[in-house]
Amino acid sequence: MHGTLSNDHLKEDIRDYWSRRSQTFDLAFGHRIPEGPEFDAWAAAIRAHLGPEPRRVLELACGTGEVTRLLLSLGHEVTALDFSEAMLSVARKKHERAKGLRFLLADAENPMEPDESYDAIVCRHLVWTLTTPEQAFAEWHCMLKPGGTLLFFDGDWAAPTRLGRLASRAIVLLDRFIGTDPHYDGAMSDRHSSIMQRLPFGDGLTVERVLPLLQAAGFRDMTIGSHTPIARAQRRTADLRNTLRTLLYRRFILCCRKPV
Ligand SMILES: C[S@@+](CC[C@H](N)C(=O)[O-])C[C@H]1O[C@@H](n2cnc3c(N)ncnc32)[C@H](O)[C@@H]1O
Repeated sequence: MHGTLSNDHLKEDIRDYWSRRSQTFDLAFGHRIPEGPEFDAWAAAIRAHLGPEPRRVLELACGTGEVTRLLLSLGHEVTALDFSEAMLSVARKKHERAKGLRFLLADAENPMEPDESYDAIVCRHLVWTLTTPEQAFAEWHCMLKPGGTLLFFDGDWAAPTRLGRLASRAIVLLDRFIGTDPHYDGAMSDRHSSIMQRLPFGDGLTVERVLPLLQAAGFRDMTIGSHTPIARAQRRTADLRNTLRTLLYRRFILCCRKPV
């Protein structure tokens, strides 16, 4: 009972945190996906794993609808889910005229969608914030059709890489000279770190940690993709501070399948 209650509180805190960031989320580097090389790099990564055919896709934690835009541009039929009404309302406005798109206010860890109803489940920057990853992966497995694909983009946000630590020091110096960036993820950092401390992956989400959990949920054919082409594309248009930000964390793309 105690566990359930504290989990509910944690979820409320997570939802509240993102809701408060909804209006400025797209202003923080790395969230909005601008047209051009960065958009193309993300699209290429999705196409490589989902294939060229239109699919029925469940996008978990769609936030302000940036990945949604990619999925629609690739011709997929998308159900875009988030548990923050504030985030969803930004996404709804952005995609007012979109065809083949349905929004859903629901918990990504238990979406209550029918079994075997999606060809693919896609999410960016959700897995690190799951409160019960084992149960969530089991739910996702159920919702996929046999042969369906789970594709997610995430990273280890708990500890910068060695190069990242150097980049981080340079960012502190730049902040001192040109002023801090109020929209970057450091904004509301006390609340962010209080949430991190209570998450199962709060001390780091790595491929090594997540693979056995996916395996236990029944996923197979694991493929690990590199985030480097996306970071490289970001650097083509980023200023110095944002270029340094592309070096901070170890990111990965993970794709796996439900057996036929
Ligand atoms: C870092 S943002 C990522 C948004 C979007 N995926 C993107 O990459 O632009 C995290 C999002 O996950 C949502 N979220 C976190 N936990 C969730 C859950 N259990 N169910 C539904 N949405 C969740 C938040 O509301 C927020 O919109």
